[in-house]
Amino acid sequence: MSAVYGLEEQPLHTDGAHLHRPPDVIALCASEPSATPTIVWAGSSTYPTVPAYARSGIFTVRTKQGSFLTSAVDGGRIRYDPVCMSPSDGMAREAVGYFTSLRASAEEHHWDSPNLVLLIDNRRCLHARSAVAEGDETRRLERLTFRLEKS
Ligand SMILES: [Fe+2]
Repeated sequence: MSAVYGLEEQPLHTDGAHLHRPPDVIALCASEPSATPTIVWAGSSTYPTVPAYARSGIFTVRTKQGSFLTSAVDGGRIRYDPVCMSPSDGMAREAVGYFTSLRASAEEHHWDSPNLVLLIDNRRCLHARSAVAEGDETRRLERLTFRLEKS
């Protein structure tokens, strides 16, 4: 994502969308405060509240090993990253507009204290980084990803 957008604002996305099984939880950790917020849009805690076309539209996911087809909501989880996913039908193109529109209702997480950790449910939330604030070019977040065992 950073390789494509540099210091500019990133679009909302889930991490690991190029993986057949993306991580379930993302932990972002900052040992130092940062003036650049992380943006989070949270879907329903029980099932992603996305329109039917976002569940039915087909995306092509490009990976280093080839490509595969998928929907943006698969098995109760959201998978969306406009860098590696291209809409392959009209419903998926509508879904791109829907996911873009969610930025207006997303919340900002401010890294205003040292040693903060932000846990993101990567199955039901989209996240992004605001444009890097002036003077914040050396900001550093560590990221850990987790897969939860199925019960
Ligand atoms: Fe990310």
